[in-house]
Amino acid sequence: MSLIRRKQSRDDTFLQVNSVVKMEGVSYVYKGPPPLQALYDINMEIIRGEYVAILGPSGSGKSTFLNLVGLLDRSTSGKIYIDNIDAETLNERTRSSLRARKIGFVFQSFHLLSYKSALENVMLAQLYITNSRKQRSANALEALEKVGLTKRAYALPSELSGGERQRVAIARAIVNKPSLILCDEPTGNLDSTTAAKVLDILDELSLSGLTLVVITHSKQVADRAKRSLLFSDGMLVR
Ligand SMILES: Nc1ncnc2c1ncn2[C@@H]1O[C@H](COP(=O)(O)OP(=O)(O)OP(=O)(O)O)[C@@H](O)[C@H]1O
Ligand SMILES: [Mg+2]
Repeated sequence: MSLIRRKQSRDDTFLQVNSVVKMEGVSYVYKGPPPLQALYDINMEIIRGEYVAILGPSGSGKSTFLNLVGLLDRSTSGKIYIDNIDAETLNERTRSSLRARKIGFVFQSFHLLSYKSALENVMLAQLYITNSRKQRSANALEALEKVGLTKRAYALPSELSGGERQRVAIARAIVNKPSLILCDEPTGNLDSTTAAKVLDILDELSLSGLTLVVITHSKQVADRAKRSLLFSDGMLVR
């Protein structure tokens, strides 16, 4: 009996230590007017190292969900934990710092600054992390190397292909060695060959132990993820 109890408590500890995202009864209402409830009573957990696809029709709440996980918005009700930290109780400053250290974002439209080189775009993500420009530059070059873009470090986004731009965005997302990478349609603007290259990089990141959450309409992407969460009308249905 006591053995079982000891094992169970060890399993609980394991789950707690390895929880990267946890939601308990999370709802979200866009204030409007008119108000619109985009998420209803979401309960879920993502464990360290998981590769999770977020699926569901347009308007089902996928991006709203990702914005909450990424601490870009605050839930209307319910609890959100990132690395076991209760994010809802933190002030804006602490949330921003937590976001910068623990979360990397990759969006469909890349979100790169057009007048900054690839290197400088990646360096910008570290302003919260270190004051040393030299250190930021070294870290950014290391991240660009991981996505195979060392040779294009000094190019402007306009001088890069779509796939290369997305690889810069991935370098920016990983440069602070976050716990979690959140991607909203990362291959939405890419042709299938270019998309496959970007997905290979995500696979490598997953193999290296990073936790990935990827919104997608693409079967190509969903097939690579180990688990999927399906949204429908603001509810998590699977
Ligand atoms: N800023 C906003 N203000 C008001 N309502 C919004 C806002 N953003 C999204 N919504 C609404 O919330 C619901 C969920 O939207 P969300 O963007 O999360 O959907 P989605 O699943 O990401 O869709 P898509 O696949 O088209 O990107 C939709 O009904 C949408 O119209
Ligand atoms: Mg969306």
